[in-house]
Amino acid sequence: GADVEADISKIEPGQMLRVEWRSKPVWIVRRTPETLESLAAHEDQLRDPNSEEPQQPEFAKNRYRSLKEEYLVTLGICTHLGCSPQHLKNGAFAEQVEGVPEGFFCPCHGSKFDMAGRVFQGVPAPLNLVIPPYYYIDDNTILIG
Ligand code: FES
Repeated sequence: GADVEADISKIEPGQMLRVEWRSKPVWIVRRTPETLESLAAHEDQLRDPNSEEPQQPEFAKNRYRSLKEEYLVTLGICTHLGCSPQHLKNGAFAEQVEGVPEGFFCPCHGSKFDMAGRVFQGVPAPLNLVIPPYYYIDDNTILIG
């Protein structure tokens, strides 16, 4: 079928696995404890920190936007005009948003998203990154779709 199984057992903390689902890129990011902690620090700079927009699974309507906090599963598609954002880490994202070491930056028109895919204010992207439907088959396997 059109659903995709992803083996997440080899993703190191801080790393990302890219898979394709219905011709779209899906990112699975294993977030470190530091990354998870940092999500609370910049919420006053986000457009929709609790992710209340309707077009997403219920479990995405909060700070972490995931079934398990450790793993972010999101479409890797900018919600402005569909470019592919870059994952900037190890402090590189702070050039885009002061004090935020890691995030996603869209090179097309400069939209910025945090490590829960939440969009920062003052950029063209109107919405947080889209969380696809998925669930855990077991601890090492996610089914997207
Ligand atoms: Fe990403 Fe325009 S497509 S900012």
